This record gives sequence, structure tokens and C-alpha cells, in this order.
Amino acid sequence: MARLLVCVLLVLPLLGGSDGAWNQRQLRRKIHELREIQYFKSFYSRLGIPKGAPSYEPVVEGYITQPLDHFNRRNNATYEQRYWINKEFWQHPGGPVFLFIGGEAAESEYSVLAGEHVELAEKHHALLVSLEHRYYGASINKDGLTLEGIRFLSSQQALADLASFHLIISQKYNLTRNNTWICFGGSYPGSLSAWFRLKFPHLVYAAVASSAPVRAELDFVDYNKVVANSLSDPVIGGSEKCLNEVKESFRVVESLLKAGNITQLEKDFFSCASLHPPDDYTEFVSNLADIFMGAVQYNDESAGSDVRKICKYMLSASSVYEGLKLLNSMFMDSMGMKCVENSHEKTLSDLKKTELDPVGVGERQWYYQTCTEFGYYQTCEHTSCPFSPRITLQSQLDLCTEVFQIPKESVFQAVQFTNEFYGADHPKSSRIIFVNGDVDPWHALSVLKNQSHSEIAIFINGTAHCANMYPSDAQDPPSLQKAREEIAMQIGEWLKSAREES
Ligand SMILES: *[C@@H]1O[C@H](CO)[C@@H](O)[C@H](O)[C@H]1NC(C)=O
Ligand SMILES: *[C@@H]1O[C@H](CO)[C@@H](O)[C@H](O)[C@H]1NC(C)=O
Ligand SMILES: *[C@@H]1O[C@H](CO)[C@@H](O)[C@H](O)[C@H]1NC(C)=O
Ligand SMILES: *[C@@H]1O[C@H](CO)[C@@H](O)[C@H](O)[C@H]1NC(C)=O
Ligand SMILES: *[C@@H]1O[C@H](CO)[C@@H](O)[C@H](O)[C@H]1NC(C)=O
Ligand SMILES: *[C@@H]1O[C@H](CO)[C@@H](O)[C@H](O)[C@H]1NC(C)=O
Repeated sequence: MARLLVCVLLVLPLLGGSDGAWNQRQLRRKIHELREIQYFKSFYSRLGIPKGAPSYEPVVEGYITQPLDHFNRRNNATYEQRYWINKEFWQHPGGPVFLFIGGEAAESEYSVLAGEHVELAEKHHALLVSLEHRYYGASINKDGLTLEGIRFLSSQQALADLASFHLIISQKYNLTRNNTWICFGGSYPGSLSAWFRLKFPHLVYAAVASSAPVRAELDFVDYNKVVANSLSDPVIGGSEKCLNEVKESFRVVESLLKAGNITQLEKDFFSCASLHPPDDYTEFVSNLADIFMGAVQYNDESAGSDVRKICKYMLSASSVYEGLKLLNSMFMDSMGMKCVENSHEKTLSDLKKTELDPVGVGERQWYYQTCTEFGYYQTCEHTSCPFSPRITLQSQLDLCTEVFQIPKESVFQAVQFTNEFYGADHPKSSRIIFVNGDVDPWHALSVLKNQSHSEIAIFINGTAHCANMYPSDAQDPPSLQKAREEIAMQIGEWLKSAREES
């Protein structure tokens, strides 16, 4: 089934002249699979339906026809956008509508079947609807990935899609102003959730924005700063010593690269092909760094990838080099990889592919959005970064030019404009809850402090990316349980005030 992948994306294909796409892709796919299983279990245990039961009647999957360009009605081109609806909890006709916003990957029916928003929908008798993001999953034209075709991919077009979806759903279900809409999203869709409320306050009454990097940033230095902090954070099994060993291991690798001991590195770290300087070297160190970045971002959210385990291995090995080797092998095992793809050529050719892939993460599309809107390049040139300084901003910007013919000056301007357009981490809006975990590196680009009495920030101690969005679990740490309660309480209050206003 492999679809749905809430919040899995945002670790970018890290770079090199480019990019650790292979490891990253493996990691995301794996997390996605685990999540599907988790959602599946949560969903079926709730209903008491055995695994493999036939389709479930209250859920509808459909397509709406959308203009390809909302901002030029003389362009009559359209595309088909996929959505899901779950009516099982809805109190007809006055109940609220909970909108789950899709992002940089294919969505699935689980977007209306499991997760925090579904639990809240059950409580408040809401109609659940979700919309896949344009250009991802099945919501894309045949030629959508060509240089010419991809032009209409942007967060602004995506928000306009949501407005038009609001209209279509309202007509289909005879909704009125009495049906209060609340939107939800995590990671990039978390930003969309906040921005939908910001730009279309007449359509959605309130928004929950989980792990939302609302501030665009070209050189996202802080990402690896948080990774370093998390590796040394005893609350999640890290330590100063662990962080130092990680740093040292990258220094040893660097000295081997400098000394020209390449065959040894290829062999020790199972490179699929021989490494050619300098771009493959960058790929190689990026892939190694990805193991740590992924472990931190998805700490406790995916098997084989958490800070406690990583630090245990680093500290128990006979040398830092052996520790890194061991971790790499473990990572490969958990991802089912036989070798690690370190070829920069391969990364480039993958990002240039224009054939549609209806499942998984849209790597090419997402990279395009970083070049045209967000930047978010996770660099390692600052001394606070424990990995390799070969991971530079330039190498990631080069991809914008090589893959999309977008010069670096344009990327810089685009990032500035995005912040000007949406208000960065000081959006002037109301009734938005920003939820973040302090372990998650993306929190550095989000809203961490209350902006006003109704733009509320919840900062969770000890959790990673989008932790609050998953189905609640008795094992959840107390800080997460408390955050869920605060979110639920706030949603309850807002729904009440909406009823009083109507
Ligand atoms: C779209 O517009 C073009 C002219 O700009 C016209 O030839 C074509 O028939 C239109 N297509 C549709 C589906 O309306
Ligand atoms: C909406 O209203 C129309 C006309 O009153 C009715 O035929 C239709 O069944 C209603 N649809 C829903 C989903 O209630
Ligand atoms: C909304 O609900 C109120 C109270 O139930 C009702 O008087 C009003 O007509 C409704 N408005 C719409 C647009 O349906
Ligand atoms: C490079 O590899 C050779 C053979 O494995 C080894 O003898 C030598 O010590 C290595 N050099 C460094 C700098 O590690
Ligand atoms: C932020 O706002 C919420 C809700 O109004 C409130 O409970 C919380 O105490 C505020 N936090 C801070 C740090 O002011
Ligand atoms: C986070 O939780 C840990 C215990 O799990 C505690 O030791 C620490 O003080 C907490 N930090 C904050 C900022 O509350």
C-alpha cells in the first residue's frame, strides 16, 4: 500500500554538488511504511474490523478538476486533484469540517482515517476531508514534471486549490457558514495550514500547524545546530561525549579523503561505485551525515533510527571510525540496502527525471520548491555542525541551476519574497496553534512563542518532527500527552466560540 507519509519529507535530499538522496529516500520510504502500518493498526483496532477487510463505506476517494493556473484565467489548462472524505463522525448538517492538508508526497485514505485530527473529529462530530497537494501523488498532469510543466507548482497555487476545494465541498454537502472549518497539517503542510488561515480567514476558522517551518531560509545553518544539540541531549539518550565522537569520526573520514585512501572508504562504507572527486566525496559524507540527521528528526518515530541507539554504538566501538562503520552497516540493514549510492551523476539524473511516480515523496518537485520558494538548505559550513564542511550552500544551489536552470540570485530573492508574502515567523493572524518538538531540527524555523492571545505556540520537551499528529498512544511521553490535551482544549474552545458567533 505504501502511500501516506505525513511529515516525512522535510529532510532534503542533501546535497553535494549535491545530494544524499539515496539514503534519504530509503529512510523516508521506510518511515512511511512503518507509519502506514501504525495508521492501519490504529484505524482497524478502532473499528474492530479485521486486517484486509473490504473497503470502508464512509470513505470516499475522488478527483476535482482544478485550473492549472489560478492566477491567469486565460490559461484554460486543468489538472485532476485527488481528495478523500470520511463522513463517519459527521453530525449532519451543522457539524464542523476538519481539513487535512497534503504536502510533498502522495497522500492516502489514511489522511482521513487516523491521526490526531481524526481523534478530534470523532470528539467533535466533524466531517473529515483531505486534499492531495498539486504535483504530488496522483494530483498531477502527464507532463507536469517537465521544466515547462512544473511552472505552476507553488504554495500560492496550492492555497488557491484549497479555496476552490472549500467551494466544491461546500456545494457537495450543502454547507453553510454554520459549518466551522478547521485545517490541519504537519511539516510543509503545517505551514500551508497556518497560511490558509492567514490568507483565507473567511474560509477557515482556525488552524493547527505542526512542525511548520514558516520562516523560509536560504542557508539553514540552524538545522545541524539542533542536530548537534540533540546528539548531546541526555533526555533522549545523547551526551557531550557522543557528539564529540561523531565530530571526530567525520574528521577521520576527512583525513582519509585528503590522504587519498579512497578504496578503503569505498570498501568500509559499501559504496555502490567508486568515488570521484569532488562531487562524489560530498555525496559520500552527506549520506553519512544523513544517518544522524534522520535519527534526530525522526527520533523515536522509526525503528533503527534514534539518538539513544546511535550514541550507544558510537560509544561502544573500539574507535570512532569503527563506530561510524558499524552505524552505516546498521543503517543499511534497516533500510534493506546492499550498497550506498554515492554517485553525484546518479543524483542529478534522478532529479532530472520527468516521468511521474504516483507513490512516495516527490523529490524533484520538492527540490523545485526549495529553489523557487523556501531554500531550507541544510548546510554544514558553520563550526557548530558536527559533520563535514563539504556540505556547502553552493553545492545545493548548484542543483537549482543544473536541474531547473534557476540561478542562485533568484533563489535568494524567492526566499526573501516568501517571508515578505507570508510574514515568516511573525505571521499576523489569529486562531493558529503552532506545535513543535525541541528535538526536531525544523523547530528553528517555526513559531515558538505566543504571538497574540490566539496565535499560540506549544513547544514540546523531548519530541521530534510532527509527533503530535500521530494517533495517540499510552506510551506517549507526558510532555506530548499534555500538548495533545492543550490542542484538544483549544479546538474545543474555538468551536464553541464559532457556534456562539453564528
Ligand atoms: C483552451 O483555449 C484555447 C485557445 O486559447 C482553445 O483553442 C481551446 O479549445 C481551449 N480548450 C478548452 C478545453 O476550452
Ligand atoms: C443538498 O441539498 C439538495 C437540495 O436541497 C439535496 O437534494 C441534496 O441531497 C443535499 N445534499 C446533501 C449531501 O445533503
Ligand atoms: C445557522 O444556525 C442558526 C442557528 O441554528 C440558524 O438560525 C441560521 O439560519 C443558520 N445559518 C445558516 C446560513 O444556515
Ligand atoms: C591507507 O590505506 C593503507 C592500506 O589500507 C594503509 O596502510 C594506510 O595506513 C592508510 N593511510 C591512512 C592515512 O590511513
Ligand atoms: C500562550 O497562550 C496559551 C493560550 O492562551 C497560554 O495557556 C500559555 O500560557 C501562553 N504561553 C506563554 C508562554 O505565555
Ligand atoms: C524536559 O524533560 C526532562 C525529563 O524528561 C527534564 O529533565 C527537563 O528539565 C525538561 N526540560 C524542560 C525545558 O522542561
